[in-house]
Amino acid sequence: MDFTLNENQTMFRDMVRDFTRKEIAPIAQQMDEENGMPAELVEKMKASGFFGIAFPEQYGGLGADTITYGLVVEELAKASAGVCVMLTVHNSVGSYPVAMYGSEQIKQEFLPRMAAGEIAAFCVTEPGAGSDAASITTTAKRDGDDYILNGSKIFVTNGQRAAFYVVMARTPGTTGHKDTHAFIVERGTPGLVVGKKEDKMGLRASDTAVVDFEDMRVPAAQLLGKEGDGFKIAMSALDGGRIGIAFQSLGIGEACLAEAVRYAKTREQFGKPLIRQPVIGGMLADVGTELEAARLLALQAAWLKDQGQPYGKQAAMAKLKCSEAAGKAADTAVQVHGGYGFCKEYAVERYYRDVRVTRIYEGTSEIQRLVIARYLGQEY
Ligand code: CAA
Repeated sequence: MDFTLNENQTMFRDMVRDFTRKEIAPIAQQMDEENGMPAELVEKMKASGFFGIAFPEQYGGLGADTITYGLVVEELAKASAGVCVMLTVHNSVGSYPVAMYGSEQIKQEFLPRMAAGEIAAFCVTEPGAGSDAASITTTAKRDGDDYILNGSKIFVTNGQRAAFYVVMARTPGTTGHKDTHAFIVERGTPGLVVGKKEDKMGLRASDTAVVDFEDMRVPAAQLLGKEGDGFKIAMSALDGGRIGIAFQSLGIGEACLAEAVRYAKTREQFGKPLIRQPVIGGMLADVGTELEAARLLALQAAWLKDQGQPYGKQAAMAKLKCSEAAGKAADTAVQVHGGYGFCKEYAVERYYRDVRVTRIYEGTSEIQRLVIARYLGQEY
């Protein structure tokens, strides 16, 4: 078994590490306070190719493999988990359905624009359909060569900033997953109404918004896959998305560990640095071990995807393990900092808030366990 990264993977990671240190880390705290992201940063990220990382080269992307993509996500998350989620949603659930299920014409029309930095979003969750994604009520009624969509989506990452929305909707009067359809919709389509931005606990650099559809007419050519494929398209997109969230969690967890260790090396109590006190050293050792174990799961899931092998179970395991290990890392980092960790002056306070949603979005920890248990039920 070879754990060595190849030259390309190392080059990408180092390039992104350099970029994040110069362009993102210095303003991460400010973005958190201001609840947004400067447009200049988005432009610099466009110019550096961040928006096309996971896109096929033939459609203007960089064609990076999933491991490379994961390393990039991890580096971004170390600097700003909010900037990171804008990129992960765009490069996975916001664009994968188009790359995998769009017609050739749709791919040529939309993917190069997305790869160049016109941002993508993913609209599945509704007020009454969170973990139970098959219970969406947004309708898509066929009308000649179009569909007419009506409904409301919530918690849409990139909701306000997006140029494109992958939207799940169902045939009116139906229930269950079989009558759901997926569409790619462009911003500016009459009837697409971008609503309020959420005032979130963490990931405050990112925008999360309500998106409504009011008699929105979408050409049938913008249907992804076939009629009735919507739920499976969403689920398969989330399989890949969960690998991204696993690496995002790792990045936040690593940042927590680094801050906690640095602090424990310099902070003295009872006559010696905290790190040399067994109780604190043991806490840090546990965090380091959990993150390393989690990393192996994330890399395995990414590797399986790159090999063209099934990866749904490992993606769920990686997302579960990485988000929980990162949550523990953030909690420990605050604890090691004591009262200082409770103050905004210290980065661990932000990490503690940022990391919380990794156990919620793209499938809660409970949903990951449900998915894993179903795989286990089939295997044994
Ligand atoms: N890939 C392809 N097909 C899949 C699939 C997958 N990963 N998982 C299930 N399917 C198929 C099944 O094979 C089944 O097909 P058949 O009818 O042909 O047998 C069909 O889909 C229905 O599957 P289930 O019976 O398993 O469906 P379910 O209703 O029991 O739900 C679930 C399964 C796993 C609970 C699913 O609802 C789920 O993942 N829920 C969580 C939703 C989620 O992650 N939401 C996050 C939204 S995005 C977000 O967080 C915001 C953001 O912008 C970051």
